[in-house]
Amino acid sequence: MDLKEYIADIPDFPEPGVLFRDVTPLLADKDAYKEAIRLLVDFAKEKDVDVIAGPEARGFLFGCPVATELNCGFVPVRKPGKLPRKVVTKSYDLEYGSNEIQMHSDSIQPGQNVLIVDDLLATGGTVQATVSLIEQMGGNVVGIAFLIELEALKGRKLLTGYDVYSVLKY
Ligand code: PRP
Ligand code: MG
Repeated sequence: MDLKEYIADIPDFPEPGVLFRDVTPLLADKDAYKEAIRLLVDFAKEKDVDVIAGPEARGFLFGCPVATELNCGFVPVRKPGKLPRKVVTKSYDLEYGSNEIQMHSDSIQPGQNVLIVDDLLATGGTVQATVSLIEQMGGNVVGIAFLIELEALKGRKLLTGYDVYSVLKY
């Protein structure tokens, strides 16, 4: 099954010059979605994963099904102001401006093995900030898995030393 057939290429979204890789056709197809999750699980099951962390919003769509398949928990990484209890916060730079993500400060226990799952690796800023929060709480990042990697943006360079897997490369 060629999962790229289920990724829609949208030119000039969200701004001119950007080619957006839209995962919604894959999500909408029961067989393609199941196959994508199966491939992510195949990578994850080789590791001793205690919990999966996934960044809002699209990371939830892939991280949560992998967590139930692996029989482990899921911890959300959220945009600011969404989590109700004490949080840890990390800012990271974008091409223009900056972003912030947060996790509950007790969401990872020291020594826990954490797998990060997101839909897409672009510049790597989101996942690098996620790694930083997990490690700040004492977690071990045992792997990082994406549905899609945009190789031209070289996000993988920020993740040297980690076991990084992507189902589809562009
Ligand atoms: C997108 C995508 C990844 C991130 C990748 O999320 O889902 O999480 O960007 O980009 P990076 O590698 O350059 O950090 P976005 O923040 O657009 O929001 P969403 O998941 O809520 O749609
Ligand atoms: Mg995202």
